[in-house]
Amino acid sequence: MDSITIVGGAPLRGVIPISGAKNSGLKLMAAALLSDQPLTLDRMPRLADTRFMAALLESLGVGVDWPEGSGTIRLHAAEIASTIAPYDLVRKMRATFNVLGPLLARIGHATVSLPGGCAIGARPVDLHLKAFEAMGADIVIEGGYVKAAALRGLKGASIVFPFVSVGATEHAMLAAVLAQGDTVLDNCAREPEIADLANCLNAMGAKIEGAGTSEIRITGVTSLHEARHRVVADRIEAGTYAIAAAAAGGEVRLEGAVGQHLGALLQAMRAAGVETAVDPEGVWVRRTSERFKPVDIDTQPFPGFPTDLQAQFMALMTVANGTSIIRENIFENRFMHAPELSRLGADIAVRGNEAVVRGVDKLVGAPVMATDLRASVSLVIAGLAAEGETTIGRVYHLDRGFERLEEKLQACGADVRRVRTGG
Ligand code: EPZ
Repeated sequence: MDSITIVGGAPLRGVIPISGAKNSGLKLMAAALLSDQPLTLDRMPRLADTRFMAALLESLGVGVDWPEGSGTIRLHAAEIASTIAPYDLVRKMRATFNVLGPLLARIGHATVSLPGGCAIGARPVDLHLKAFEAMGADIVIEGGYVKAAALRGLKGASIVFPFVSVGATEHAMLAAVLAQGDTVLDNCAREPEIADLANCLNAMGAKIEGAGTSEIRITGVTSLHEARHRVVADRIEAGTYAIAAAAAGGEVRLEGAVGQHLGALLQAMRAAGVETAVDPEGVWVRRTSERFKPVDIDTQPFPGFPTDLQAQFMALMTVANGTSIIRENIFENRFMHAPELSRLGADIAVRGNEAVVRGVDKLVGAPVMATDLRASVSLVIAGLAAEGETTIGRVYHLDRGFERLEEKLQACGADVRRVRTGG
């Protein structure tokens, strides 16, 4: 199993190109199932997760053309050969569950494994299923599988989500575009990935208004056509490198990052004393002061502070000049990085959904273990800021969501290398 070794202490200086967003790309790929015409997606990040989704789509009969090294994927679901997504696939990557809505909308039935829990929380999908039921689908859960049927087609519905869910908003939207009549989704998530999905679906001929606000209105159409779409820039990747530059010191330009998608993070970073600037082509970050101020954060749905940047921000706060409080409000078990950060000398006390982080003078490198995607990159950040060598095990977590991580950091002067141990 590969590991990553970092020798900390070198400041980051340079330009980091930001990839397309994993969490948008995965849902955009699922959208290809809605049409018998091709969908071409540019700036698709080459990650373990996106490759996995491509393999699932292929198993459902979708033609996948994704040349090695290319960021452009062409998906053609001329015919659907299978409407079954087995447990072995969905268990490994939850976002594969998103094929359920498009299959149900296009073919009228689908059998997709329930994803089960994951390292950061239970993550049920009840809101997704209730939305499909509201659109007229019959849902049965049997042997760990969701068996969904709407043999005479889905019907537009008025759905009020009881709380904000990114996945349920996207999944309901994916299904409603081919439903008969109008659908109104209320209390929707407003993450930029939702507007990205709506833009792509509209380019395919869907009629969606209001994506990016809490009310989305969809007028169903009978079919969708060929389209080409560029995946939105990954705000979590951009935010991660912004925090890395603050932690290691130095100055980086995040080429292609969208400043408006990073508002809550940039505000927190400025409050800590990190300089930031936003222009139409990207975001610039510089740390000037020796120590920065502690800043409290509370994770919230967009436009609040993203849960997907909580671990990285905690890594930064471990070396702040004072105590910060970090509250995780989205997932119930998303502090698994705290004990690993402590192995580098961080002082973190976790109580329920709150972590009290007392800044220390310095971190010292140590061997640590990655537990999930964002947690593992928080260890990379801590390793960059620490004195000496940090080795991170189980880096397959990183490979799920960060494209060319070592290369991007090395280009900015970081001493990071992958150790391939095979097996
Ligand atoms: C998406 O997960 C992202 N994943 C997550 O990124 C991200 O952390 C999360 O949104 C929040 O921004 C993808 O897009 C693939 P939710 P999602 O539905 O859609 C509960 C990463 O590291 N809930 O907004 O699953 C749920 O358990 C990943 O890239 C229900 O109870 O998140 C959670 O507590 C991790 N029932 C809360 O809602 C449901 O039916 C918000 O989850 C759905 C969700």
